[in-house]
Amino acid sequence: MSRKLRLGVLVSGGGTNLQSIIDRCRDGSIDAEIALVLTNNPQAGALERCRRADIPFLTIDHRRYASREEFDAQMVAALRKAEVDLVVLAGFMRLISSVLLDAFPGSIMNIHPALLPAFPGLHVQKKAIEYGVRFSGCTVHFVDAGLDTGPIIIQAVVPVLDSDNEATLSARILEQEHRIYPRAIQLFAEGRLRIEGRRVLIDPPLTPSEAALVHPPLDG
Ligand code: GRF
Repeated sequence: MSRKLRLGVLVSGGGTNLQSIIDRCRDGSIDAEIALVLTNNPQAGALERCRRADIPFLTIDHRRYASREEFDAQMVAALRKAEVDLVVLAGFMRLISSVLLDAFPGSIMNIHPALLPAFPGLHVQKKAIEYGVRFSGCTVHFVDAGLDTGPIIIQAVVPVLDSDNEATLSARILEQEHRIYPRAIQLFAEGRLRIEGRRVLIDPPLTPSEAALVHPPLDG
């Protein structure tokens, strides 16, 4: 039997995406195991999820390192020691340097709560409401040297309602994050993702399933 894909999940906060990955690894819909959870934040709520699920975790406090590169070198050492194949950023609130990028070429994913390339960066649910877009959503992408610029693996579209505030839209988007991140990881585990320039090709291809979404809906 071949060895299972080993995930290293990087978190800074509450870790609901981490939880969805834990759950999907447990029920077999992700054919991988979480080898290590790493955080830069000793207070991260995600750590309690690791304790409960009996998953190894490690805190590397970025404030103890003089540069981003030194901090990343510590993370690379821990990820290598845990024999991690795929690095999964799940609400990890630090920019990563070439030290981490070069250690895991084509093998770092991130989830972002907007439909990239619209609204990169922070507080993007609020920005989507303020801009007046009718749809936002979430994006899983491979990580490159830019801010939320890497090749896109999977996206989910979520309507923005007139009644939305930052909290309600964030919650609606988060529900979809919990569906698409496990799916992207499973596609990677199945060896179905190929990066070609800016594009991620899925092999064998997915079937075209749904018609276009229009919001507000049109007659007929
Ligand atoms: C998510 O909205 C994710 O898209 C963003 O940070 C948030 C993390 O939430 N990068 P959680 O810690 O997984 O609950």
